[in-house]
Amino acid sequence: MLLAKTSRQVPPRTYNARVTHALGLDEKIKVTGGAVLNGEVGVLGAKNAVLKEMVAMLMAPGVHRLTNVPGILDVSIMGQVLDHIGASCEFEGHTLIVEVPDDLNPEAPLELVRAMRASIIVLGPLLARTGRARVAFPGGDDLGSRPIDWHLDSLRQMGAEFTLEHGVLTGRVDGRLQGAALDLEFPSVGATENTILAAVLADGETIINNAAREPEIQDLADQLNAMGARIDGAGTHTITIDGVRELHPVDHHVIGDRLEAGTYAVAGAITGGEVTVRNCDPANLRMELRKLEEAGCEVERGQDSFVIAGPKRAKAVDFATLPFPGFHTDMQPQMVALLASAEGTSIVTENLYDSRFRYIGELARMGADVTTEWQHAVVRGVPTLSGCPVLAFDIRAGAALVLAGLAADGFTTVSDVSHIDRGYEDFVGKLASLGAQIERLAG
Ligand code: UD1
Repeated sequence: MLLAKTSRQVPPRTYNARVTHALGLDEKIKVTGGAVLNGEVGVLGAKNAVLKEMVAMLMAPGVHRLTNVPGILDVSIMGQVLDHIGASCEFEGHTLIVEVPDDLNPEAPLELVRAMRASIIVLGPLLARTGRARVAFPGGDDLGSRPIDWHLDSLRQMGAEFTLEHGVLTGRVDGRLQGAALDLEFPSVGATENTILAAVLADGETIINNAAREPEIQDLADQLNAMGARIDGAGTHTITIDGVRELHPVDHHVIGDRLEAGTYAVAGAITGGEVTVRNCDPANLRMELRKLEEAGCEVERGQDSFVIAGPKRAKAVDFATLPFPGFHTDMQPQMVALLASAEGTSIVTENLYDSRFRYIGELARMGADVTTEWQHAVVRGVPTLSGCPVLAFDIRAGAALVLAGLAADGFTTVSDVSHIDRGYEDFVGKLASLGAQIERLAG
């Protein structure tokens, strides 16, 4: 991976962040509660789109460009995956230029799959391009067990065979993958994407029933269609893909990150401030904004931006996480941070991940009154949280604890911030620009 021009957006230290994390030398974020956040903040491209769009580039030899790419740790890890496969990546500001060779090394090693589970999305593209794939089998991660059986089921029905030996999944297909009519057991984002990526170069038509409808999947389909693919119905439950013989490189602008946008929305809400969030279509965050309105926020929606004004004290709200257009599981911890000091009792149901409530213990250190039972959390709002040292377990949990600190009494230090770096570029700088009293400290 070429790093010559990356220094500002993807600082070199991020490449070592996992190691630093393992050594316990991770940096901390210190936030002093009480400041009311006001002003404007712009979000960058969606992490959950750009990672797949980087992999989509492997589908066509030549020089590709992605613009609006966030300088986050997960993008650098995916850059290393592409590098291992044989592509070279170069950043110019928020533009990523990737040169894809004719011949690929169809492999994703354990250290990269461990560092970022989303690396397994290379499976479909590698099988489609080379007929082979050797990918370390992903175990569980911070959010729970997270199997990939539905990815493999779809690829099998398209003619691939898999063996699992010594922790490495080897896939092969004789000739081209074959189009198939597929019924997903659940609208899984990753299984839908892996199948689309495999099907664009397959022989014949693939139909994915019960497909995931996330906006990031539509954005991936737009990129692939511009490359010459024939994908119809992305954003609906039925996606039809007519396989083509080859694709060509394109320039693609990554859709705005609704999760980054939603996080800044909660920052405004939790401090009773007024924040304008730019570069994100509020329709992609409609359930989350609706629930923030139920909690007492006022929201004004524009085309590619929105303004949110927080109440003096939020009201309790019940919600359940679901695939799009339901409430996003990756916004659940931030919303719970808000509800922890709301008036009344909220019931939160987590339908996606078995370990997503792990951060609640840290929130309880700050005085939150939350009981969890299986996938339910009962959040009894307390008048104020109280700042203290806490630990980030994953990207969104880390962001949520910082948000809780914004409204807490005294100061909060959040450790293991490399988790936050996985999904947010300059989180501290953006919150500070809105008026937060926040700084990053060496570990
Ligand atoms: C993606 C997002 C993640 C988000 C999630 C749900 C990326 C990089 N990550 O993850 O941030 O939280 O969508 O919106 O885009 N499952 C299986 N078998 C499978 C596949 C999934 O049992 O083969 C289960 C998962 O364990 C989970 C649920 O299905 O409980 C949904 O997972 P999925 O939609 O596939 O999420 P990801 O694509 O992994």
